[in-house]
Amino acid sequence: MAKETILVVDDEEKIREGLKTIFELEGYNVVTSSDGEDAIRKINNEKIDIVILDLKMPNMNGYEFLKIVSKTDPFLPVIILTAYGSVEEAVSLTKQGAFDYFIKPPNIEKLLTSISKAIDVRKSLLEKSKDKTLIPQNALDAIIGESEDIKQIKDLIRRVAITDATVLITGESGTGKELIANAIHALSPRREGPFVKVNCGSIPETLLEAELFGHEKGAFTGAINRRKGRFELANDGTIFLDEIGEISPKLQVALLRVLQEKEFQRVGGEEDIKVNVRVIAATNKNLEEEVKKGNFREDLYYRINIITIHIPPLRQRKIDIPILASHFLRLYSENYKKNIKIISKELMEIITNYSWPGNVRELQNFIESAVIMCTKEELSIECIPQHYKPKLIPPKILNITKNQQNQNYINPQKPIMVIEIGKTLDRIEKEIIEETLKLTNHNKSKTARILGITRKTLLLKMKKYNLN
Ligand SMILES: Nc1ncnc2c1ncn2[C@@H]1O[C@H](COP(=O)(O)OP(=O)(O)OP(=O)(O)O)[C@@H](O)[C@H]1O
Ligand SMILES: [Mg+2]
Repeated sequence: MAKETILVVDDEEKIREGLKTIFELEGYNVVTSSDGEDAIRKINNEKIDIVILDLKMPNMNGYEFLKIVSKTDPFLPVIILTAYGSVEEAVSLTKQGAFDYFIKPPNIEKLLTSISKAIDVRKSLLEKSKDKTLIPQNALDAIIGESEDIKQIKDLIRRVAITDATVLITGESGTGKELIANAIHALSPRREGPFVKVNCGSIPETLLEAELFGHEKGAFTGAINRRKGRFELANDGTIFLDEIGEISPKLQVALLRVLQEKEFQRVGGEEDIKVNVRVIAATNKNLEEEVKKGNFREDLYYRINIITIHIPPLRQRKIDIPILASHFLRLYSENYKKNIKIISKELMEIITNYSWPGNVRELQNFIESAVIMCTKEELSIECIPQHYKPKLIPPKILNITKNQQNQNYINPQKPIMVIEIGKTLDRIEKEIIEETLKLTNHNKSKTARILGITRKTLLLKMKKYNLN
């Protein structure tokens, strides 16, 4: 059983630490905070069960604090500590939802009784409200991040969820497209209905049509029975068409029809089947480009692209990196029964500056492996898995200026290569190709772009130098 966690908010360190010691002796987990904004951040990102709040706090007053808390976690009890002079305010706050108040210095015995009562009340409220009303908030909580981008995305999710509009989610691999699709469904009036996911990129074209629309008995060899497709299975719910950029021209036509008329036919069938389905699509391709190249139907593109949610790559919202990293640390530390509490400053700096070509998924996998490797209470550079070392800790090197075009791919720490006089040009060429490949995670197109050569030239050179 996890222990309950108390968040102590007070700008005086002596009081924070004093209360922390007392509560810990009573068997609680204690998190502390010196101001309101930081406290709200912790409430958003950690599992907090109760807040002990000193009314006199920098950058936020008690009313604002309660208001924000009531939105993020309506059942989170707040107990107020107040100086004798502000009793009136404390009383008025208890009328607005604060659980209790104590005049400083509080009677510890009574404070502890009040805390345990508040925790019981919270538990029973949470128990009672395990109905739909709480699910939506949780769905958004699963999306971690404090960047403006993430805040705007959450806002947009909230607004589009209540509509039936088709949503296109774009972003590089691992940026959280599926997570966001899930949240939209969970927040929508269809949340009691099914959420059906189809990965259009991983199902062969010949099977995809039957997968989406179902088939009649005998429609093709192997169609022994009639089978419902995913659109029918998603009736009254949401269908998530992942990697929509991969579907063939023929299926694009069929899809257009479903989107326009909300009806289709099973493979080998003649009956028009009507469905009530909300469509969310995702792609890591630039669909506009695909339309220009003639690979994707323009009319379908406009049908899908009613509302677009674009998730920027992680390297463009660096402030989310430490937040996500700490989140995954907690998750995996618990999963693997480790007791790792923090990420060392040094490691945090390294991961914040890394370019994470695989975005959040890559960061998540990295933290998981590092947690497995870690034997201490602090996740440090010693825990970096071997295969990550060359990527995260760049070779000791001189400065290569980055140019506009390739800055996305270059580690912001500007990886540098030492060139000793005496080497042949061939040798240097081989080495720079090798290092750039490492940097891009062996992505040949990116490597060629950084080196300013064509992919074909790169392949020839790799062959010449035996680089594979
Ligand atoms: N903002 C976020 N907060 C918490 N977890 C996240 C966030 N973004 C992504 N993740 C996690 O990262 C992983 C990858 O996310 P997801 O599968 O949604 O990405 P994707 O964009 O669909 O990737 P792909 O294009 O490769 O399918 C998942 O485990 C997901 O939970
Ligand atoms: Mg995905």
